[in-house]
Amino acid sequence: MVRKKKVFFKTYGCQMNVYDSERMTESLISKGYRVTNTAESADVILLNTCHIREKAAEKVYSELGRYKILKSNNPNLQIGVAGCVAQAEGEEIIRRQPLVDVVVGPQTYHRLPEMLERARKGNKVVNTEFPRDDKFEYLKKISRQKKGPTAFLTIQEGCDKFCSFCVVPYTRGNESSRPAERLLREAEELVDLGVIEITLLGQNVNAYKNGDWSLTKLIKKLAKISELKRIRFTTSHPNDMSSDLVKAFGDEEKLMPFLHLPVQSGSDKVLKLMNRRHTSAEYLEIFRSIRRVRPDIALSGDFIVGFPGETEEDFYRTLKLCEEVEYAQAYSFKFSARPGTPAAKRKQVDEEIKSWRLHELQNLLSDCQAKFQSKMIGKSYPVLLEKKGRQVGQVVGRSPYLQPVFLDASSTLIGNIVDVKIKHSNRVSLQGIIA
Ligand code: SAH
Ligand code: SF4
Ligand code: F3S
Repeated sequence: MVRKKKVFFKTYGCQMNVYDSERMTESLISKGYRVTNTAESADVILLNTCHIREKAAEKVYSELGRYKILKSNNPNLQIGVAGCVAQAEGEEIIRRQPLVDVVVGPQTYHRLPEMLERARKGNKVVNTEFPRDDKFEYLKKISRQKKGPTAFLTIQEGCDKFCSFCVVPYTRGNESSRPAERLLREAEELVDLGVIEITLLGQNVNAYKNGDWSLTKLIKKLAKISELKRIRFTTSHPNDMSSDLVKAFGDEEKLMPFLHLPVQSGSDKVLKLMNRRHTSAEYLEIFRSIRRVRPDIALSGDFIVGFPGETEEDFYRTLKLCEEVEYAQAYSFKFSARPGTPAAKRKQVDEEIKSWRLHELQNLLSDCQAKFQSKMIGKSYPVLLEKKGRQVGQVVGRSPYLQPVFLDASSTLIGNIVDVKIKHSNRVSLQGIIA
């Protein structure tokens, strides 16, 4: 009997990379591979990488450095780099770290099994083309594998917005939306595997458009699948927030009351420098309109501090916007100058100032989060139980507002939605008991 080759995946970055890693895994399994959870036992190690900030990209090289010893112990070990660093740096990766055998971009990973095969003959193989349609057309023949009750589904990929700080339009290519009928088929397949919550993914998911299908129309159609109980989507852009989609938060019960809508800054001057093409007032108006139809909506965002040209006054406008929105959660980052983006060439803000602003903003955001969560104490919410917790007898699920909820319950309940009474709020999670 031929021994199955073992593949180890390490995934960085956004949810789309998680989805892509799953698809790569499935395509390797279809070629006879199996998955292992340790790099040490693997025949193939694959890093699915993120290029969004310098730190994220550098992590990849330190991780690759750790594999030197594995490769010297096992000369047949193959190492591949996939994802956005692969796309952005291509062959340069092999120049910098010669132990890498394969470099594969986000649009060509369906060719991975064949690339690994070629690399086994001793050649380095690099493929960072953009033959977009190919990928999903090929992958549709490979069944999805799913163990848990929740799943991601990429419906749109790429970005044409070119915010002046961002690498995504270069690493993921132009905006493109997958045909609705294929998405509906993939969703049905997931539901047949026991999935009851689907999160629709796209770099600009609310810009989804295919024929006369919009994101709203897709959500409404998915909501008709009776076994599917929860629908989420991420990440949206303020400029693509249609009134139909706002309305859907009010009238589509399966659409969860959580919206991640990055704004980046509260200063109109900075927003302009970022090429965001919306003002802070327009952004606030979107939130107000959603709150009118869905008063309990939980709002989330992304922020960049220390963008080139950001003054103290601009920064205070960001703090003010946060206070007005009362975020349920949010992510914030120091500006990181990325090669090839317009903002990288501008005069940079001092590192110390950036660190101070990040600290201030994060304090404020965690206060907002604590406030949002403390209001939940004593009330009951439907929680989708996803997996076992770290402690014996503990189970972890998600509230409608996406917070992790820990409780003691039988693991046989995993995959169900149960009412949980919230007893305690931690920094980023909740604790409760079955109501
Ligand atoms: N498509 C999403 C963003 C994906 S990147 C959107 O438009 O919202 C996720 C977040 O990373 C961004 O929202 C931004 O806050 C942050 N980010 C992107 N480029 C960055 C950079 N050069 N420096 C710091 N943060 C950055
Ligand atoms: Fe990047 Fe802006 Fe596109 Fe988001 S909208 S992916 S921040 S360029
Ligand atoms: Fe990172 Fe690429 Fe996602 S740069 S955030 S992995 S689209």
